[in-house]
Amino acid sequence: MVLREKYPSEIATILSNYAQKRSAVLPLLYIAQDAYGYLSDEAVREVADILDLPATDVFEVVGFYTLFYDRPVGQWILQVCDDVPCCFTGAEQLISDLEQKLGIQVNQTTEDRMFTLERVKCLAACDKAPLLQANLEYHYQVTSEKIDALIADLRQRIESGEKISISGRLAER
Ligand code: FES
Repeated sequence: MVLREKYPSEIATILSNYAQKRSAVLPLLYIAQDAYGYLSDEAVREVADILDLPATDVFEVVGFYTLFYDRPVGQWILQVCDDVPCCFTGAEQLISDLEQKLGIQVNQTTEDRMFTLERVKCLAACDKAPLLQANLEYHYQVTSEKIDALIADLRQRIESGEKISISGRLAER
């Protein structure tokens, strides 16, 4: 029961915000995702147990939302927008260069488990295309020339503990 041990006050606060326990499923899944690194069967069952829900109900929620990961992912999830405005400003080249530099294809994770690469649709910042999102943190006008510096910065942030969790929260919080 990792969650109850590690996040007792956070869980209690979340539950107090809702009239029904089941309504807290999304925020609890985010906590579970950060605690476990992804939503393993164990993590999902623990959330179901806290909420007194059948595990299948929680598995269905996980399967519905794209920002929940039911498989191991990297510490940084790099999501490149491949919608039209971003494509006009170099998104396809950016994806191709990322694949080459990271040694993976889209929807794969590097061997060192640092990075997972994904395509996504419009992230609503088209005026700053091409857009890359790293653990929900926006990086604007990411051209191929900026990739090396970006990857180095993200690696350094893991070492210094400044990484943002894959659910978008600061990891140290
Ligand atoms: S098309 Fe890429 S952010 Fe809108």
